[in-house]
Amino acid sequence: MNQSEQRVFSGVQPTGNLHLGNYLGAIVKFVELQETHNCIYCVVDLHAITVPQKPEELRSSIREVAAAFIGAGVDPCKHIVFNQSQVAEHAELGWVLNCVARIGWLNRMTQFKEKAGKDRENASVGLYTYPTLMAADILLYKATHVPVGDDQKQHLELARDVAQKFNNDFAQSIAALGYGEVFFPQPEPLIQGPATRVMSLRDGAKKMSKSDPSDYSRINLTDTPEAIAQKVRKAKTDPEPLPSEVDGLSGRAEADNLVGIYAALSGSTKPDVLRDFGGSTFSRFKEALVQLAVARLTPVSSEMRRLQADPGYLDQVLRDGASRARAIAAENMVAVKDVVGFLR
Ligand code: TRP
Repeated sequence: MNQSEQRVFSGVQPTGNLHLGNYLGAIVKFVELQETHNCIYCVVDLHAITVPQKPEELRSSIREVAAAFIGAGVDPCKHIVFNQSQVAEHAELGWVLNCVARIGWLNRMTQFKEKAGKDRENASVGLYTYPTLMAADILLYKATHVPVGDDQKQHLELARDVAQKFNNDFAQSIAALGYGEVFFPQPEPLIQGPATRVMSLRDGAKKMSKSDPSDYSRINLTDTPEAIAQKVRKAKTDPEPLPSEVDGLSGRAEADNLVGIYAALSGSTKPDVLRDFGGSTFSRFKEALVQLAVARLTPVSSEMRRLQADPGYLDQVLRDGASRARAIAAENMVAVKDVVGFLR
């Protein structure tokens, strides 16, 4: 398959404050992939309501994610940017795939266990079946490549299992209708780069997260240069200077994280960064990191602010993206219905 036949799909949840982890773990990759692939980037609002959301905040978070995609450099004319709930086929295929996936598969999902916590009886049914909806998002467009952060790896494996089980369960029908042997292609995860896992600035063992009570733990995409500088300067470190080799980062989670962030922001690697900063103190390294982070993030955040000031424009972009997404989704969904044996 040549690259123009490959299709990229990915989604980001509109659940409040986007941060450096979302940016380096996903959005930067989205921008890169536009050069080589047809891309569909989705604001996954159906996923967001698996936990309670305030309607007014949800609306503004959907626009924030759209603004982040575009502000970071995604071109919504050449590619597709839309919000999931505007294309009803996501929910429709999600149901069919709920009937393909097995309860035992979902019971193994570690993110459900983390998110549901101790009070599992009280988690929404949607939170439990979330991975089958994610599989539907991807398979609805027969996407071949899915850029995701490393926390989504297990969900992507489930999507691959669901695709394969659908292909097997309906093999005869698929062949009889002339689709060959493979109806859904196996989506490949794209998980790479020095900072697909950005950790908290306060605790190198925890992921950077929007739900951390300390705002100093994360750099938000809308932070001012002053806020970025303050957060980097206060970031937790250890008393040793930086090592000159990557091996020297083991057991030093905070140092490792800052070096990873520097590498990702500068488009280099950890060994490159340590070649330049090995032996240097954290105070010197942090000043360089402040300059780099401000230089990289300020254009994105000012563009985001400009876009968010014009919600009408963002809504129009999302509607236009949804109508183009729907055209692909509807065609594939008709085929799914035929394969399953529904009348239409
Ligand atoms: N579950 C993903 C997350 O929380 C978001 C998501 C939903 C997604 N559907 C997707 C990512 C499809 C990639 C492909 O980050």
